[in-house]
Amino acid sequence: MGRIFSGIQPTGGLHLGNYLGAIRNWVKFQDLHESFFCIVDLHALTTLPDPKQLRLDIRGIAAAYIAAGIDPERSYIFPQSAVSAHCELAWVFACLTPLGWLNRMTQFKEKAGKQRENANLGLYAYPVLQAADILIYKATHVPIGEDQKQHVELARDIAGAFNRQYGIEYFELPVPLILKTAARVMSLRDGTSKMSKSDPSDYSRIHFMDDPDTIALKVRKAKTDPDPIAGTPGAMENRPEALNLLGIYAALSDQSLEEVCRQFEGSTFALFKKNLTDQTIMVMEPIRQRILSLLDDQTYLDTILKKGADKARELALQHLNEIQEMVGFIKV
Ligand code: AMP
Ligand code: TRP
Repeated sequence: MGRIFSGIQPTGGLHLGNYLGAIRNWVKFQDLHESFFCIVDLHALTTLPDPKQLRLDIRGIAAAYIAAGIDPERSYIFPQSAVSAHCELAWVFACLTPLGWLNRMTQFKEKAGKQRENANLGLYAYPVLQAADILIYKATHVPIGEDQKQHVELARDIAGAFNRQYGIEYFELPVPLILKTAARVMSLRDGTSKMSKSDPSDYSRIHFMDDPDTIALKVRKAKTDPDPIAGTPGAMENRPEALNLLGIYAALSDQSLEEVCRQFEGSTFALFKKNLTDQTIMVMEPIRQRILSLLDDQTYLDTILKKGADKARELALQHLNEIQEMVGFIKV
């Protein structure tokens, strides 16, 4: 039995990429493993969000986790800032992480853009905090989308560096869990860039809070090509938008891409889009309804978050004590 840790930043609402690439898989894993699902507000602070909006988003993500099927009776849902041991371990890790490792991080390069000198230290140190998130619980498995693979690999390197430095196999190296279908959901407007919160076009993504009419409109406007659907994914190699929509349908209907291609072979995109709209609404509309009713009951949400944070804190402190002892701190 391993232990699961994953998290999402509370910066705006969630989209279909977060659902299919991450949360949907968490729901499956929670049956088999003790699971910690964090709302990573410390990471969100790297973009300095408006405090009022941040508070709304933290509760919004908590509601979305529960609405999507994370069971707060079995799994621990909590805000990262409620467990200060994340930051304390991040400092220990910072002292073990060569700058060369951080300079390779592609997400930092993307987010910092051309203004690298103006990017804040938090953004640069972001993957070190992420390693601490995972390892403070000695989590063994990290379910994420493809874009986070490099960060989990860095967490493995840091865990290894710690073990070598202190001459003890204290951390098991955490394993990234990336499911093949929908590991990377692409934008509805451009099949070569990923669906993302930061895309300026709202038509590029489907939000958890989109109502059925909005979903229908976004699918209708999604970019495709004039050719009919081919019978195999291999025959559509240079059609990224087509493959993306078929991939989304496959993930939403729990089928393989091959099965979906066979099912819709020869069909036009106009027809396929009707099916995709229905399938998306069938999966996402009940989640939206549950989020709305959860957001109506802030007391309930805060009780869940407190319960999750209490449990997380207990385990994190136990490990932090061991780590502080190993590195040579004294108890006073
Ligand atoms: P973020 O929204 O960047 O905090 O990502 C939260 C989780 O969703 C991470 O596990 C990501 O890998 C996953 N994720 C984000 N965008 C996508 C996408 N377009 N396709 C698949 N997974 C994604
Ligand atoms: N960096 C992740 C993202 O942007 C969020 C995250 C923070 C995370 N800490 C984590 C994911 C620990 C998995 C494990 O998506």
